[in-house]
Amino acid sequence: MGDVVRFGVSMEEELLEKFDALIREEGYGNRSEAIRDLIRREIIESEVRKEKGDVVGVIPFLYDHHRNGLTRRLIEIQHGVSSAAFNVHFHLDEHMCLEVIIMRDEASRVRSLADDIRSVKGVEYCEVLMTRPALSHHH
Ligand code: NI
Repeated sequence: MGDVVRFGVSMEEELLEKFDALIREEGYGNRSEAIRDLIRREIIESEVRKEKGDVVGVIPFLYDHHRNGLTRRLIEIQHGVSSAAFNVHFHLDEHMCLEVIIMRDEASRVRSLADDIRSVKGVEYCEVLMTRPALSHHH
C-alpha cells in the first residue's frame, strides 16, 4: 500500500447521521474504514463491469437430474470451458440438484458460461455473481 492521504468531505448533516448509523450497524470502527471499503467496492464493481482482467465468478443453478440428457449436457458445457473452476453439488431431494460453480476467469467467459447453462432446457434457475479480490485490503 502507498502513502495514506487525508482529505475532507462535506455533506449534509442528515446524510452523515444516516451513514454513521449504518456503519455502526455494520460494525465499522470509524468512518475512514467504511469509506475506504465503499470506494474499493465501487472500483471493483466498475472494473468487473468493464470486464478488465480476471474475476471470481459464482454460478449457482438448479435442475432435475432425472430429466433426459440434462446432466450430460451440463457436464459437456462445463468441460468446454478451460478455466480454474470447481463445483459444489448438493442433492436437494430425489429430483433436484443445486450446483454451484466457482471459477476464476474473464468476466465475459463467466457470463457466457452462465448464459449457456441457463439456456439448457430443464435448468430452473441460474444466477451469476462476480467479484475480484480487493486492492490492498488492510485490516
Ligand atoms: Ni444431485
